[in-house]
Amino acid sequence: MISKATIDTVFETARVEEVIGDFVHLKRAGSNFKGLSPFSEERSPSFMVSPAKGIWKDFSSGKGGNSVAFLMEHEKFTYPEAIRYLAKKYNIEIEETEQTDEEKANTDVRESMYLVSEFAKTYFHNTLLNSEEGKAIGYSYFKERGFTNETIKKFGLGYSPEAWDAFTKEALGKGYKLEFLESTGLTIPRDDRPFDRFKSRVMFPIQSMSGRVLGFGGRILTNDKKAAKYLNSPESEIYHKSKVLYGIFQAKQSIAKLNNCYLVEGYTDVIQFNQSGIENVVASSGTALTPDQIRLVNRLTKNITVLFDGDAAGLRASIRGIDLILEEGMNVKVCTFPDGEDPDSFAKKTSYDDLVLYLENNAKDFIQFKASLLMNEAKNDPIKKADLIRDMVVSISKIPDRIQREIYIQECSRIMDISEQVLVSTLAQLVQKDVVEVGKKQQQKQEQKAFEVVKNENPISTEKVDTLGIVECEIINILLSYGNISEKFEGVLIGTNTEGEVGEVVVKKERKVYEEIYLSLQEDEIEFATGLFKEIYNDVISVYLQNDNFNLERYLMHLKPEFAQIITDIVMNNEKYVLHNWEGQNIFPKTKLEQLNQNVTDNLFTLRWYLISQFIENAKNSVSKESEIDNSEVIADIMDYIKLKTKFSYKTGRVVVRYH
Ligand code: CTP
Ligand code: MN
Repeated sequence: MISKATIDTVFETARVEEVIGDFVHLKRAGSNFKGLSPFSEERSPSFMVSPAKGIWKDFSSGKGGNSVAFLMEHEKFTYPEAIRYLAKKYNIEIEETEQTDEEKANTDVRESMYLVSEFAKTYFHNTLLNSEEGKAIGYSYFKERGFTNETIKKFGLGYSPEAWDAFTKEALGKGYKLEFLESTGLTIPRDDRPFDRFKSRVMFPIQSMSGRVLGFGGRILTNDKKAAKYLNSPESEIYHKSKVLYGIFQAKQSIAKLNNCYLVEGYTDVIQFNQSGIENVVASSGTALTPDQIRLVNRLTKNITVLFDGDAAGLRASIRGIDLILEEGMNVKVCTFPDGEDPDSFAKKTSYDDLVLYLENNAKDFIQFKASLLMNEAKNDPIKKADLIRDMVVSISKIPDRIQREIYIQECSRIMDISEQVLVSTLAQLVQKDVVEVGKKQQQKQEQKAFEVVKNENPISTEKVDTLGIVECEIINILLSYGNISEKFEGVLIGTNTEGEVGEVVVKKERKVYEEIYLSLQEDEIEFATGLFKEIYNDVISVYLQNDNFNLERYLMHLKPEFAQIITDIVMNNEKYVLHNWEGQNIFPKTKLEQLNQNVTDNLFTLRWYLISQFIENAKNSVSKESEIDNSEVIADIMDYIKLKTKFSYKTGRVVVRYH
């Protein structure tokens, strides 16, 4: 177990914008940062980070919380994993408290798989650098490919020996469990003789965006035609091939900084580019790009340049996959290499300056590239040409931005020598079809909703609870942000007025906002009606009562996970306007401070008003229709409530706050 002191240090040291900045491209927006939500497929930013409060909020998915919550959500870390990750990031030494055997045994399965993978990476790397076999076979192979020691270290390259169980034996000897060696695919089970999957291969560790080892690629060194050149870890609890891009850990900062990402096919292409000084490069590892992989890049930049090998054969097939990138709203360029070259071989023999120059001069806009390429093939064939036009228009229709579509239509018209009109009408047909499909889906949803309402026996009461929820939410908001501020509140006391008559007198007394809220609700014996709001209210109030000095930052630091969504929602909602202010119009929200006491009193009043209304409603419902039952008590109650409500509205002379 990690000690409480370590956890506190981690929380105090971690900067939410730095932690999230490793995964999401953040731009400054006033006192906050914003970026594209890493949890949804959006194209305009609705993800906010507040450095001052140490929290983040994703308005498109509703998720939010502090640094730890982000890591748990994004990296699927457990709480201890997230703390350990942050400790590592900020060089904080972890102080462990004594672990019982049972706790040890219960260590999370995924954590064990990560540990085994990390161990394997170190083992293969050390074997490459330090063992006779590794140096003679693996290391000399990498040297031949032109990799420097620095590169070998940067990518953690390794070597897996020829002996059939060298790694498995070593790992078991070190106390790693066979179960996890097998579930990560490093070891293949066979009766009593489990053996190494990657026997006699050079090893490429595959890492997540945050640097965790997820799996491996192993390259064979002999020219055995029967054996696969590359062998990869199987899909597992920690390795999902379709969600990983090779090199993303080493590339992420450079991608964000240079605002462009090069996409290549293979491990060695990535490594050779890095060695040449170009770091913003990732590989899809030989398969077609998946939407998850594109989104990984989309978090860091909008611009992607796909680098193709020099052989024309693969080109047409690869081009198909690019529509997917367009669909994500990214700007796609493509670049080919001279015949027979791939990015690896080309980079190896080209200096950094020449490589950069080559990429600059040869990267073409995807749509233009595709149109010219296909035009060459279809030149004198009208049928092929008709197909080509449709094909081009399909690509263009994937682009979410209307203006950009327009520009491409003009370009294509020129390249393919066909009137814009034809292209536009073909595009219109396609877009229309999409619209119809989307429309159908929405209609289905609405029908479903209508059905749900019919099923709901008492829709009116639901609406009331909602309004109550909003008032309760607003009171929590006030408590969180302004609870410590002292204000003058009106109170009604029994006393003597200026004429000496005894009666109700209004006095102003100074109280802290939280006291006013707490005491008023207590006095009226009123409790929040909405389950989670009630829990949050009680929690926040108890902190106030214990310390009399509530500190929002501290509270958010130790935010209970079950409250995270609602609380970040409330706190960040005040800042939401910044999102719509991306381009810098100077609109500021009305500050709640100006009329704080009024605001508090109004909301308390509204809460009472709704609660009393609800009591009345409930009491009415409990009046029995059967004549022999005496309802006089219930009816008396109702009358009391109604009187209370009238008196109460009259006395305060206030209008119920409406939240619609
Ligand atoms: N690949 C794979 N399994 C194979 C072949 C290829 O997983 N049997 C993946 C690897 O990620 C490889 C990429 O596809 O890096 C590209 O394949 P290829 O061009 O054949 O390999 P190179 O990267 O060029 O490898 P090398 O230069 O070492 O031959
Ligand atoms: Mn190659």
